[in-house]
Amino acid sequence: MKKNSIKKQFPILQQKINGKPVIYLDSAATTQKPQCVIDSLSEYYTEYNSNIHRSSHKLSQKATSKWIEAHKVVADFLNAGTYEEIIFTRNCTEGINLFVNTYAKQNLQKGDIVVLTEMEHHSNIVPWLMLQKEVGFDIEYIPVKDNYKLDIKWYEELIKKEKDRVKIVSIIHLSNVLGIVNDIKKITELGHSIGAVVLIDAAQSVARLPIDVQDIGCDALVFSGHKIYGPTGSGCIYIKKEILEELPPYMGGGEMIKEVNRKSFTLNGLPWRFEAGTPDIADGIALAVAISWFKETIKNIGGYEVLIQHEKNLISRFISKFEGLDWFKLFGKRERIGVISFNLEGFSFMGCKKETLESNDQGKKILDFISSRGLCIRDGFHCAQPLHTRFSIGPTMRVSVGIYTDERDIDRAVQIIKQGVLRTM
Ligand code: ALA
Repeated sequence: MKKNSIKKQFPILQQKINGKPVIYLDSAATTQKPQCVIDSLSEYYTEYNSNIHRSSHKLSQKATSKWIEAHKVVADFLNAGTYEEIIFTRNCTEGINLFVNTYAKQNLQKGDIVVLTEMEHHSNIVPWLMLQKEVGFDIEYIPVKDNYKLDIKWYEELIKKEKDRVKIVSIIHLSNVLGIVNDIKKITELGHSIGAVVLIDAAQSVARLPIDVQDIGCDALVFSGHKIYGPTGSGCIYIKKEILEELPPYMGGGEMIKEVNRKSFTLNGLPWRFEAGTPDIADGIALAVAISWFKETIKNIGGYEVLIQHEKNLISRFISKFEGLDWFKLFGKRERIGVISFNLEGFSFMGCKKETLESNDQGKKILDFISSRGLCIRDGFHCAQPLHTRFSIGPTMRVSVGIYTDERDIDRAVQIIKQGVLRTM
């Protein structure tokens, strides 16, 4: 893989922190942006900033056609049937909330079951808990086994036993803590066998694995643009057209309507009826640039298999450099994609929760040391607290890689972490 030519396209990765090269190993939280994405944002504001679908002047025409084109780029990337199935959102969380507050709210009743997993991100738990309070359905979590894989047998049995009650299955594709890839095709097939509707959270997989919604067979899928080298404030929910056509609107306002009078309104066509108000125009357009860039880069390096193998090699390189050190505690299996979560025995980490950082002096010291050396990694529960609770562990540190990460980044990170531990112990 020609790593350097990729890295060079990311201006932020060329800078120094305290005179030290930045080592960015936090791509699971957000990826950095290539120059073409930054240029796209700047072009929008310098050349054709204007609202879409409203005015008929030249600037608006250009912005509108780029906005529509961006939906087509995303539809093609996911292999959706049509761009009408692509609703732009600000992120995954907004996509899941849209689904919960439209499809789920319309279709769930007291006594129904929604199936999640113990490895879900909070964004695929909290919206369900909120709606549960209103509707009174049950939530079942597919257990994570001691080998960190989902207990599919348990899920099969639930499907058999509760075939009349399971209505929605909502599952993470690639765990942002364990780096485990779930068999979403099988999970979808099993859900469909009893008529349940399946939503996939592709937040971490979208920039690492090929995603084909027709091949998966899922009814809905969400991802965030900022995790696939695109801007913050961009993302999408794909929903199958036959489901989308029956959904009630989510937010009301301009753009989602065709006509309004004092007593009623009629809905706009798809997907615009789910994009009320002025959207993040520059970000949505730049998302399409990011996706086109990503597809081209994947092609240039030799396909997804090369990227997957590259990530696996980097991860294995990192873990093997701590072999034999009993203070290094890996959370999860060695075989993984994207992320490595681990603990340093004797330290505890709480991410941005200030009060705990202050009360854990050792943890704070090591984090300060690491960041002063230009190393960017994440600590905390990674928005997946139930998974940590399942394994009775506190917050962890997390290293996560991206398409620009190379062996040098890994070796420097290992060196800095080891230095930090020696100085702080
Ligand atoms: N979901 C993001 C993460 O795992 C923020 O870090």
